[in-house]
Amino acid sequence: MDPVLVVRGLKTEFSTQRGVVHAVDGVDLEIGRGEVLGLVGESGCGKSVTALSLMYLIPQPPGRIASGQIWFQGYDLLAGSQDEVVLVPREDKPPKIVRHDPALKRHRARMNKIRGREISMIFQEPMSSLNPVLSVGYQVAEVLLYQRRRQICDALLSRKDITKDDLEIFKHAVESADAEERDHLVADFCVRTGLQAEAVNTVIERSGLQLAERIDRVRSLAGRRRIGSRWFLRFLKRLDELEDHHFQREWQKLSRLSLAQPVLELFSHERGPEPGGLPRLLRISPGETAVQLYFQGVTSASETLRSGVESRVKQAVAASPGSPLRAIRSVAIGSGCVELRFAPEDGSARREDAEYRSRAFLYWFLMNTPIVRRALSRPLEEEAKRHVLELLKLVRIPEPTKIYHEYPHELSGGMQQRVMIAMALACDPAMMIADEPTTALDVTTQAQILKLIKDLRERMNSAILYITHDLAVIAEISDRVAVMYAGKIVEDAPVDELFANPMHPYAQGLLQSIVSMDSRKVEPGVPLPTITGTVPDLISPPKGCRFHPRCPFAFDRCRKEDPALVLRGERHKVACHLYDKEAAA
Ligand SMILES: Nc1ncnc2c1ncn2[C@@H]1O[C@H](COP(=O)(O)OP(=O)(O)O)[C@@H](O)[C@H]1O
Ligand code: SF4
Ligand SMILES: [Mg+2]
Repeated sequence: MDPVLVVRGLKTEFSTQRGVVHAVDGVDLEIGRGEVLGLVGESGCGKSVTALSLMYLIPQPPGRIASGQIWFQGYDLLAGSQDEVVLVPREDKPPKIVRHDPALKRHRARMNKIRGREISMIFQEPMSSLNPVLSVGYQVAEVLLYQRRRQICDALLSRKDITKDDLEIFKHAVESADAEERDHLVADFCVRTGLQAEAVNTVIERSGLQLAERIDRVRSLAGRRRIGSRWFLRFLKRLDELEDHHFQREWQKLSRLSLAQPVLELFSHERGPEPGGLPRLLRISPGETAVQLYFQGVTSASETLRSGVESRVKQAVAASPGSPLRAIRSVAIGSGCVELRFAPEDGSARREDAEYRSRAFLYWFLMNTPIVRRALSRPLEEEAKRHVLELLKLVRIPEPTKIYHEYPHELSGGMQQRVMIAMALACDPAMMIADEPTTALDVTTQAQILKLIKDLRERMNSAILYITHDLAVIAEISDRVAVMYAGKIVEDAPVDELFANPMHPYAQGLLQSIVSMDSRKVEPGVPLPTITGTVPDLISPPKGCRFHPRCPFAFDRCRKEDPALVLRGERHKVACHLYDKEAAA
C-alpha cells in the first residue's frame, strides 16, 4: 500500500528535574492511504507523545525530538529542525535544553502549512482543546480561513448571481411578521449570498417599496460586492499559490539531505552482495543536487553497476509509490561513484520567490489596517461560515446555525468532540490523528462518535492513526494495529491476525485482560487475568527488553539485549527474543 507516512527511529525526550524522560524511543511506523492504524498500549507508554511528535507539537523545552525521520508524502518533516533545540550537558544537574529561535521559527512556519491542512488531529479532551472565548463556529472557520483560502476565493469568484433559491429566502424574510424568524432568514440569506446583514435589513425595513424593487436593490448590492472584492480574491489566490510553491521548495531542499537514510536502507549490506547484483556499499555522500554512492572495490563505476543501481531504485519506487526515493530523477556515473541525481531547480523559482515576498508584504500591510481588513475579509469570512455550516451538518450537529454562535462550555462533551472532528475534516487532510477521541465521553456518546468516525472514514480515504488503550475499539475501527510498550513498538500486525495470533507476551496479556460478555469464559470467583506490575519509569527504563520485569517468559538474553522489531509473518512484526530462540531450536 502506498504509504502516506513513514516513521523511522523516532526518539522524543523530556528534560525534567529528575532526569531525561525517554518517552518515545526508536519508534518505526508506516500508514498507507485510506488505512486505519490503531496504536494501543497502557497509559504512559508514549502514544500521545508519538502523536504530538508527528504533528511537531512537542513543547520545547522541556521536550525535544532527539532523532529520527518522519517522511510524510515524500518530505521529511524533521528536516531542518535538527538545529532548533540542543541538549547541553551540565555537571551535577540534568541537561538543559536550549532553543535556537530563528531556526525554530522557520520550521514552525513550514509546519503550519502542513498541520491542520495535510495532517489534522482530534485531541483527547475536547473541552481543553477548544478555545473557551471564541464561538465554536468561528474556531472551525478559522481553520478554513488560514488553510483553505484558495478554495474560498474560488467559491466566491465562481458565484454568478443571486439564485432563485436565495431569492425565495429573501422573499420569505420580507413577508415574515415574526422578527426572530426574519433574523434567521436574513442570516441564512447573507451566508448564501455573502451580503452584509445590516445592508439587507435596510432594504427590508425601507417602507414604501414593492417586492420587485427590494429584489432589485439586493441584486445591485450583490453586484457591487462582487466587483469590489474580485481583485483582492485574485490577489489572495496567487499569494497562496506562491506561498505553497515556496514551502514545497524549502521542504524539498531540506528533505534531500535526509534521503541518506532511505538510500542506505535500500543498499544496506544485508541485501548484498547478490548473484549478478551490486557490490557492497562502502559509504554515501548526500548533497542538495545528488547522493553519491561508493562501492567496495569500485574505482571507476561501470554502466552495469549504474543500471543495477537504477533498477533497484525503480523497483523500490514501484513497490511503494509514496517512497521518498521518488525524488531521484536519474542515476548517473560520477567519479569513482554512482550518483542518484535530483531534478535541477526550476529557473522560475527566484522570480516566484521575489513575487511571493512583495505580495506577502502588501497582504501584511492591508491586514494591519483595520478598516481595510474588515472590508476585504468580510466576504471570505461569510463564505467560510457557509462551509462551516456544511461541515457541522456532516458531523451530525443539529441546528448548525444556532450552534455556530455557541461557546464550548454551552455544548455537551459529545457535541464538542463533533466540533473537533469537523475542525479536523475541514481541510480534507491526507492524514488524521485521533488521540483517544472517545475516552473522555460517556459510553453512549462514545458509540455515536465511533460510528461517526467509521462513516466518515468511508468518505474520506485519509490515513487515520487511531490511538486508544481500548482493544475493543481497535477491533472495531482499525485495519492494522501497532502495540506500544514503554516508548517502543513491540508488535505490528493486521487487526485479525493480531487478535487471532498475538505474538508478543505484552500483546497476549492485553488481549487476555479484555472482559468478555461470554459467560463461558468468565469463571465465577476467579479473578480476571491481568499483566502484573506497572509501566516502567521512562527516566531509567529496564535494560534489555523493557518488558522483562513483567514478562512470564523472560530469559537471560532478555535482560541484556533490546529485541529489534522483526518481520515474523507476511505482515506481522514483533520485537521479542522468544522467536529467535524458536527459530534456532
Ligand atoms: N511535558 C512533559 N514533561 C515530562 N514528561 C512528559 C511530558 N509529556 C509526557 N511526558 C512523559 O512521557 C511519557 C509518555 O506519555 P504519554 O505519551 O502522554 O502517554 P500515553 O501513552 O498515555 O499517551 C510519560 O511517562 C509521561 O510522563
Ligand atoms: S524479549 Fe524476553 S522479556 Fe521481552 S517480551 Fe520477549 S520473552 Fe519477554
Ligand atoms: Mg495519551
